[in-house]
Amino acid sequence: MAPYESHQLRRGKYARLDAPTDDDLEPTPTRFSSESNATLEDLEEHDPLAFDSKLKRKKSAGDLKVRKASFKDAEAAAAIPYARRKKFTPGRCCCWLLTFVAATVLLLAAGGIWAYKVSVPVDGRSPPWYPAPKGGADPAWEESYKKAAELVKQMTLVEKVNITTGTGWSMEMCVGNNGAVPRLKFPQLCLQDGPLGIRFADNITAFPAGITVGATWNKELMYQRGKAHGKEARLKGVNVLLGPAMGPLGRLPAGGRNWEGFGSDPVLQGIAAAQTIKGIQEEGVMATAKHWVGNEQEHFRQAREWGIPNAISSNIDDRALHEIYAWPFADSVKAGVVSVMCSYNQVNSSYACANSKLLNGVLKDELGFQGFVQSDWLAQRSGVASALAGLDMTMPGDGLRWSNGDSLWGARLTQAVLNGSVPIDRVDDMVTRVVASWYQVGQDKWSNEGPNFSSWTNDEVGKLHEGSPSDKTTGVVNKFVNAQGDHKDIVRKVAAEGTVLVKNEDNVLPLSRKGHKDGSKSKRQTKFRVCVFGEDARLPYDGINKCPDQSCNDGTLASGWGSGAVDFPYLVEPMSAIRAAFDKENVYITDWLKNKLPKQKEIVEDQDLCIVFVNSDAGEGYLKWADVRGDRNDLSIQKDGNQLVKDVAKGCGKGKGDVVVVVHTVGTVNLEEFIDIPNVKAVLIANLPGQESGNAIVDVLFGDVNPSGRLPYTIAKKEEDFGPDSKVKYLPSPSDGLAPQQNFSEGLYIDYRHFDKQDIAPRYEFGFGLSYTQFKLSSLLIRSKHGKSPLPSARPSGIAPPTYPTDLPDPKSALFPKDFHKVGKYIYPYLESTDGTSFTAPEPVPQSPLSEAGGGPGGNPDLYTTILTVSASVTNTGPVDGATVVQLYISFPQGYKDPETGEAVDFPVRVLRGFEKVFVEAGKQEHGNGGGRELVTFDVTRKDLSYWDVKRQNWVMPTEGEFGISVGFSSRDLPLQGTW
Ligand code: NOJ
Repeated sequence: MAPYESHQLRRGKYARLDAPTDDDLEPTPTRFSSESNATLEDLEEHDPLAFDSKLKRKKSAGDLKVRKASFKDAEAAAAIPYARRKKFTPGRCCCWLLTFVAATVLLLAAGGIWAYKVSVPVDGRSPPWYPAPKGGADPAWEESYKKAAELVKQMTLVEKVNITTGTGWSMEMCVGNNGAVPRLKFPQLCLQDGPLGIRFADNITAFPAGITVGATWNKELMYQRGKAHGKEARLKGVNVLLGPAMGPLGRLPAGGRNWEGFGSDPVLQGIAAAQTIKGIQEEGVMATAKHWVGNEQEHFRQAREWGIPNAISSNIDDRALHEIYAWPFADSVKAGVVSVMCSYNQVNSSYACANSKLLNGVLKDELGFQGFVQSDWLAQRSGVASALAGLDMTMPGDGLRWSNGDSLWGARLTQAVLNGSVPIDRVDDMVTRVVASWYQVGQDKWSNEGPNFSSWTNDEVGKLHEGSPSDKTTGVVNKFVNAQGDHKDIVRKVAAEGTVLVKNEDNVLPLSRKGHKDGSKSKRQTKFRVCVFGEDARLPYDGINKCPDQSCNDGTLASGWGSGAVDFPYLVEPMSAIRAAFDKENVYITDWLKNKLPKQKEIVEDQDLCIVFVNSDAGEGYLKWADVRGDRNDLSIQKDGNQLVKDVAKGCGKGKGDVVVVVHTVGTVNLEEFIDIPNVKAVLIANLPGQESGNAIVDVLFGDVNPSGRLPYTIAKKEEDFGPDSKVKYLPSPSDGLAPQQNFSEGLYIDYRHFDKQDIAPRYEFGFGLSYTQFKLSSLLIRSKHGKSPLPSARPSGIAPPTYPTDLPDPKSALFPKDFHKVGKYIYPYLESTDGTSFTAPEPVPQSPLSEAGGGPGGNPDLYTTILTVSASVTNTGPVDGATVVQLYISFPQGYKDPETGEAVDFPVRVLRGFEKVFVEAGKQEHGNGGGRELVTFDVTRKDLSYWDVKRQNWVMPTEGEFGISVGFSSRDLPLQGTW
């Protein structure tokens, strides 16, 4: 094992990799016309004066007409500062009230349970949802909100604003740092990536990536990895960990960051995310569910990063939003996550960080999120609009351009409150949410020494404000605290259990350490001969942390690249681990660690067994490797790996040797070029194993760990099988307009749901994986706890959030204090002058209707009522102990029609609703069935049995027809079938 060696090269050099300079970004011309769908953000991007108070000034200067013409988007229109809204007079109010009461009475008198009062959202458009719901409504947060309110009510306006705004990229030690309130002992918070280790830190663990965790299907390991990650964060002084990631969810098989999340299914993502969050937060660290939402590809994800002025718009229909993309976030909120990161992209033509429907409506009202929403780094594209739409914290604080120190909040938010553009109660809510989150995880008990590492240097002493052009102050920034503990054991377990055995002809695996399994020796030689092939079996030549944020594919692949990657403290080389594992007395082991075979054929022909390592890499879009700019260009194995496997298969033992292929990969790959070659006897999909790579693969190859990983995605026979909408959009289309448009036209039909609907045979289906033993399922039992009923109970009202006085301070009190020492570029909440602070009283906006699907964490609590339980017995009928994953899939009633409208409702063939990993001993005889047996039970909730009804804006359980209940070992191996 290599000692700690990760910090020789790196950070100073690429500290700003996240931060392309303006020169890197050639803005393309933007058209502004009344035909365009330009939003407020566009205007601000192109108009340095365009912030609230200035907007007001411009309005009086006759500028508003131009602006209004551009507000075609309903979202942007709704984001117009309150002061400019139509008057809502008491007289009108009475008329509306009477009409509403009358309409409600009529609808109820009509006897319909279906009295819907909400309109159907138009696809591709984001309806407005205002005002932002206040945090503090959930009894589970009551204490934290009480304490937070005590603190917040003592804060001045600038102190409050300081908490909402980052201090600027690389101005403090972490990738994100907000402002503190020292007077009240509220510390500066350190926000650090996540999600597979502590980025830019020393003496930490490089955990397996999310996709590997998903492939374990092991809830306990998901939790343990989260807990270990949380503990490391705490020991390093990180307050807010920027993970787990559950978006991208895997809609696009080639999506560059799929590996950060847990697999292409919302339930798998949701359970893994919830377990991770529990683990992290039990350690007192705030977890962040990211990226909310629709950030399914890297190309065009971010304004200005791809040479275009606006980020891609992910156009998601309301049902798919609820049933697919928001689902894991709902589970995260239910698990108590205290922070959510809004994503770079637009959703339905409105930036995710200023999308009131998504932040105010879905996340805060419907899902009952009580924590704070932070922006992805520079995902905030507007000032007032994002504040009103529900953003609570801007990160890293800089405004429309990286590292410019010119925040859209900071002083501008102070000004916007003073002039009435942003109501003070919105800022109170932002701050209370942050402070309550801090209490909720118990950080008030921390000693608050701050982070003990620097993201910007490896030296003990370094600059305190790295990003400041003027401030050269230095101090001790790295204390080299070792946070690793025994976490390598968890890494190894996750990596081994996250390895999926997809082919194992003639039981070639597990290998014997002695070589020949039957004890006999080959006729032509005394020792069993093994050769390991492929670059992927060796360490990178130039060091394990040579490439910024792991943005290259050299040597064995143990992580994807980007902000989600970390420096490896060490990396166990597969080749060395395999060499060490074989018994040298009986086995002669050699290697060829290149992807092209040499001319001399002996290296391959002289072998009894050939083990070939190949891979496929991807990452975050601000970095590229070869021609892979984040998203993969296809699903092929990279670096001529297919050819290597074919050549080895042809030559190995002159075509008679056994070949085992190990694939390290960021996601689904195409195996077709070699999967059917007869002497390619075994294939292992090892995903991204983290630092214990070699040890973990040895555990599986030699059977110390009986493989129990299952595919968290489908492996197709050809990429097209994923469907016409499954391709990354690599180029904008001529019809796109101001921003690339990505229509999620497939709706619910991603990954296995698409294969099932279209009846396409995959190579290996979602949920599939082999073991060294065999399992059998029996005794399906479906027990009803409640009958069918279409709707959840009425939304509970919750408790009252804190309230504060709404008086505004004298603007002069918000000026920079006299003799204040400014650090150049640092973002402060203070004003330079009182210009633009004259107050215009905001007018109230009508309250958007509260969602009946809301009322508790993750949604209406009744959605989580167990409606039925499903149990089954699993028996190990094979020769060795092992674990398997029992999976529960639900099929909604066939031919179901909405009882009121008679319209057919479309459902996927089946959807995953639960899984349990069970360890079953081999050969226990006590049940008289020739094997050990365990009972597995699933609780099936109302939400599991409901679909999102777009018209009713609620979860509806079909009450006509029968649900299909299937229990099995994969999405296509479902031996137990029942109905309900
Ligand atoms: C951008 C990434 O999208 C996000 O996941 C990360 O947390 C931030 N950068 C901070 O590094």
